[in-house]
Amino acid sequence: MRKLLIVHHTPSPALQAMYEAVRSGATTDEIEGVEVVSRPALTASPVDVLEADACLLGTPVNLGYLSGALKHFFDQVYYPCLEATVRLPYGAYLHGNNDATGALRALESITTGLKWRSVLPPVVITGEPGKTDLEACWDLGATVAASLAT
Ligand SMILES: Cc1cc2nc3c(=O)[nH]c(=O)nc-3n(C[C@H](O)[C@H](O)[C@H](O)COP(=O)(O)O)c2cc1C
Repeated sequence: MRKLLIVHHTPSPALQAMYEAVRSGATTDEIEGVEVVSRPALTASPVDVLEADACLLGTPVNLGYLSGALKHFFDQVYYPCLEATVRLPYGAYLHGNNDATGALRALESITTGLKWRSVLPPVVITGEPGKTDLEACWDLGATVAASLAT
């Protein structure tokens, strides 16, 4: 079994809907051989990341940046994972009210430092997620999981 880790900060109904769509895509029956493990960002540990074969990251945009919770996650795992997780495949979803530019820049900068490999561009949603938005989240989960499938 290969392991897909979802690290998420989910403080609102919009983010809950996005998280559920991402997880639903990642766990679709059509993909075999992938175990999905979810961790709230404030509880995820370096061991969770070291054990993962890929990672999905979910966060709101707060004050022009990643949420403090996802930043805390990266602060915790950065050095313990720096050498061991080079080229870890990852995907991300972000939710904001208007502008995710700073958060996207931060995500790019941190994952470049870790040398993680983006499987597909982040899904960015503003306002209440509609059907197409949630389909994009589902596709994100399914695409990252499928990249691990045997
Ligand atoms: C303290 C705080 C700062 C925020 N800063 C931003 C921001 O810089 N850019 C943005 O697009 N949204 C910002 N937001 C909106 C959040 O991203 C949004 O509340 C979150 O994604 C949850 O969505 P919802 O409130 O529609 O349920 C902020 C929210 C809070 C509480």
